[in-house]
Amino acid sequence: MGVSISGRSFLKLLDFSTEEIEYLLALSKNFKDMKRAGVPHRYLEGKNVVLLFQKTSTRTRCAFEVGAMDLGMGVTYLDPGSSQMGKKESIEDTARVLGRMYDGIEFRGFAQADVECLADNAGVPVWNGLTTEWHPTQMLADVLTIQENFNYQIKGRTVVFMGDCKNNVARSLMVVCAKLGMNYVACGPVDCMPGADVVDACTPIAAENGCTITLTQSVEEACTGADVIYTDVWVSMGEPDEVWEQRIAELEPYRVTSACMEMAKPEAIFLHCLPAFHDTNTTIGAEKAEQFGITEMEVTDEVFESKRSKVFDEAENRMHTIKAVMYATLK
Ligand code: CP
Ligand code: NVA
Repeated sequence: MGVSISGRSFLKLLDFSTEEIEYLLALSKNFKDMKRAGVPHRYLEGKNVVLLFQKTSTRTRCAFEVGAMDLGMGVTYLDPGSSQMGKKESIEDTARVLGRMYDGIEFRGFAQADVECLADNAGVPVWNGLTTEWHPTQMLADVLTIQENFNYQIKGRTVVFMGDCKNNVARSLMVVCAKLGMNYVACGPVDCMPGADVVDACTPIAAENGCTITLTQSVEEACTGADVIYTDVWVSMGEPDEVWEQRIAELEPYRVTSACMEMAKPEAIFLHCLPAFHDTNTTIGAEKAEQFGITEMEVTDEVFESKRSKVFDEAENRMHTIKAVMYATLK
């Protein structure tokens, strides 16, 4: 029997088997091919989805909107300030209301417990568009990008995450690597190492799939021979402003530079979930440059703009992969 995840929520990758993740990736490639060829795929006409955001977004919101519209669905977007949720209505009640009107609910917020509560009460699939703990839809786009650059042969490749290895993206990357047989290396200061919860969950999965998980403070050890070097912002949404100073001091040695890329394999690629602080052309980038005297944060502008950087393919792939998640769970 083929793989089916129809009717399920997509809350974190630990809930999905290797086969189910591979199925979503194959489906994503099909949708990308169809989109490129101009083949219509309005398979979910008559359905409606709602996108609930407690934090800001460019990629995730647009990926859900365009993905849903391409599938023929209606879409409602609720921004961080414009629903009753949290202020006048509990998450549980919100879930029960939205579940009566919509066929699927996307949620970006703070606690993973909130998206789990929505899923427990909505009666329709709920998709996690980022929480403090996890960013599962991002991972499908990242792996699709890795597949495209390595001829769909990803088992045994080594993915290095540099920087704040305890954040939602780094934690999710460890899970997807373990599930798909890619070696995962977390490289950052001791204070930014991933928590025991995710390491303990991933270690047996990696062993089963013949790959390794390494935590290191050594940039040289991490980057030498890497296939993929990945980074993310040093301070994530929802963290207090006060953490900037210490993070910058601790994470500067873990900035992705051309020297890092030189240590990696000649065919190695650079990935970033975006948005990225690679210059001072943003309000926060300019503010931090003024305060701390740094003009680039987690990645140099040189690496970001280099041929090895696949960040805009990765961003496009958010849409194809999110479309696959909506289709597979709603069909
Ligand atoms: N990568 C990502 O989730 O981007 P947005 O915050 O713009 O959605
Ligand atoms: N770690 C980042 C990811 C943004 C897509 C954050 O949570 O802000």
